[in-house]
Amino acid sequence: MTDQLLLGQTLRFSGDPFQGDVDAVVNISTRGGVLVRNGRIAAVGEADDLRRKNPQAAVTDHGNHLITAGFVDAHMHYPQTAMIASWGKRLIDWLNTYTFPEEMRFADRAYADDIAGRTLDLALANGTTTLTSFCTIHPQSVDAFFNAARTRGMAVVGGKTCMDRNAPDGLRDDAKSAYDDSKILLENWHGKDRISYAITPRFSPTSTPEQLEALGALWAEHPEVLMQTHLSEQLDEIEWVRGLYPEARDYLDTYEKYGLLGERGLYGHAIHLEPREIDRLAEVNAAVVHCPTSNTFIGSGLFDMAGMKARGIRTGLATDTGGGSSFSMLRTMAAAYEISQLRGIALHPAQLMWLATEGSASALHMSGELGSLNFGAMADIAVIDLTSTPEIAQRSNRADTLWEALFPTIMMGDDRAISKVYVAGRAV
Ligand code: GUN
Ligand code: ZN
Repeated sequence: MTDQLLLGQTLRFSGDPFQGDVDAVVNISTRGGVLVRNGRIAAVGEADDLRRKNPQAAVTDHGNHLITAGFVDAHMHYPQTAMIASWGKRLIDWLNTYTFPEEMRFADRAYADDIAGRTLDLALANGTTTLTSFCTIHPQSVDAFFNAARTRGMAVVGGKTCMDRNAPDGLRDDAKSAYDDSKILLENWHGKDRISYAITPRFSPTSTPEQLEALGALWAEHPEVLMQTHLSEQLDEIEWVRGLYPEARDYLDTYEKYGLLGERGLYGHAIHLEPREIDRLAEVNAAVVHCPTSNTFIGSGLFDMAGMKARGIRTGLATDTGGGSSFSMLRTMAAAYEISQLRGIALHPAQLMWLATEGSASALHMSGELGSLNFGAMADIAVIDLTSTPEIAQRSNRADTLWEALFPTIMMGDDRAISKVYVAGRAV
């Protein structure tokens, strides 16, 4: 592969903009460049300098567009793509009315292939180069997702969703088959190309203690993989968990008791947490995932971003489609901004961009490998047009700083703002 030199404005982080001074960890070049070699970032710097030092490179000039790491969605459900924006329900009703009937369709491998490909194409159109997805209880839904990602060269995380109670006929496994099927899928797929397996109990209400225990045992055998689930999304759900697990100290304890709390655990939503749960998440260095469009769409509540960051809890950002109402991480950043505003804190555009790239990568334990323009990272890149619509352009054109130029796209942008996407250095 010949070297490529991408020119434009560049945005790169050398640290977490939630820790101290934003300007100290942000590197912006208004006429910058990214050198891509063998699918990885080989250098980032000033355009003229990189041109002079790399006369062999094929140059693509993106003008004033912003070159950034591709977005990393740390929690979503690809099987829910076709039922996004379903009206009028809250979590438990929404699952029973819309989600479970749709997930039933993934017994059909051809349908799973269709939706997996559609989802990844929608993600790429929105500048998202990595998805972390729940699949359905059907092992073939996992094969469909991973095959579609392989075809596209994408790094993805996924796993068979396990449920052995409180789900309809046709959508339940059992403790043993959940363990066996997850183990086979993990051993077949984890580490193949850019695929990562995640052990995936849906949430405590749809698993028996026996199933949680079996999956905890599998995680103990394979501590190298991630484990993804849901935690404390809605108050009704928490009440339900209390009834199902009367001996548990709190919701997180239902996972902890069965070996499902750990550093490679990804806990989606994590809105209504008890002090003990926050302490334990921090102590074990687990990650939580903020799903802002979902939390407003399903009416779940206001995630405490500042509280999580103050405790040093690694936090990813995610669409949670189809509970989330958008495939766009721009729209997701906008929702995160609005939710933080309701809690009295204005997140800086640098913090939003960091959450959507490096923050999510860090939640996935993939810092340095993806979600970054730093040397050595995979060249998964989004090129953003900062004047993609007339309403955005008229605001962006009077900006004095990159942040002022970018923020209208974060708040009002969509797939029209994504002018180019590269996956492992290859233009999509
Ligand atoms: N909790 C358990 N399953 C789900 C799901 O599919 N979506 C959301 N938003 N929450 C859940
Ligand atoms: Zn979810």
